[in-house]
Amino acid sequence: MQQDLTPGEVVLVGGGPGDPDLLTVAGLRAIQQADVIIHDRLGPVSALGEARPEAELINVGKVPRGDFTPQEEINALLIERARRGLRVVRLKGGDNFVFGRGGEEWQECAAAGIPVRVIPGVTSAVAVPALARIPVTHRSLTQGFTVVSGHVPPGDDRSQLDWRALAQTHTTLVLLMAVKYLPEIAQELRAGGLADATPAAIVADGSTAEQASWHGTLADIAEIAQQHQVRPPAIVVIGDVAGLWLLPAS
Ligand SMILES: C[S@@+](CC[C@H](N)C(=O)[O-])C[C@H]1O[C@@H](n2cnc3c(N)ncnc32)[C@H](O)[C@@H]1O
Repeated sequence: MQQDLTPGEVVLVGGGPGDPDLLTVAGLRAIQQADVIIHDRLGPVSALGEARPEAELINVGKVPRGDFTPQEEINALLIERARRGLRVVRLKGGDNFVFGRGGEEWQECAAAGIPVRVIPGVTSAVAVPALARIPVTHRSLTQGFTVVSGHVPPGDDRSQLDWRALAQTHTTLVLLMAVKYLPEIAQELRAGGLADATPAAIVADGSTAEQASWHGTLADIAEIAQQHQVRPPAIVVIGDVAGLWLLPAS
């Protein structure tokens, strides 16, 4: 359904994993109409070239362990620009509602009386494995997939996850933000009973010219990642689908 941006409105736009071709038609239209685009470092940064020449582009991108704009400041920016009657796009990588703080930004805008809506994006959780030819489900192998964040290690006070229980789901495990703590996570999954030989893969910079992937097992994927100095953004896939090896037609 085609819907133009309205002055004074905030639109949360999911930009997909990075390749501008994976931005939705609605997302592109929003970028083309916006007066202000508040964006990150992930996602289809080159699509910002589609913005109107007079549009204000504000980079609030978070570099891991580097400079970033605090979330409160981002919320304040969204509200302040919308109150000026501008058409505001909040562009995020992937989908805003998948580890994208879209829910928080929605709540803050709504509490401030700002109309807000969302244009869903192609989440890296599914698209990045797909681009490495890993289907997150496959009828004969698994009946589901579980997407979790590995940004805090198992056992950390901030962790809400029971990694040993995750080891028992019989679903594909898709881990975002898990590069740093992959050794601890893999160890905890093994302690939870997930077999050492379970296929595993790691895919970095999905959908970009730098995309690269490595395959191994639960027992050695952390070591493989370290050997190859894998850096974020990367997605780890653990489960039989990671060993499927979809081959091109011969
Ligand atoms: C804060 S989360 C944002 C997820 C995003 N909202 C989504 O739906 O894809 C950032 C993490 O997403 C994953 N990610 C995002 N884009 C990626 C890409 N192009 N290639 C590999 N992983 C990516 C990485 O795990 C990265 O650390």
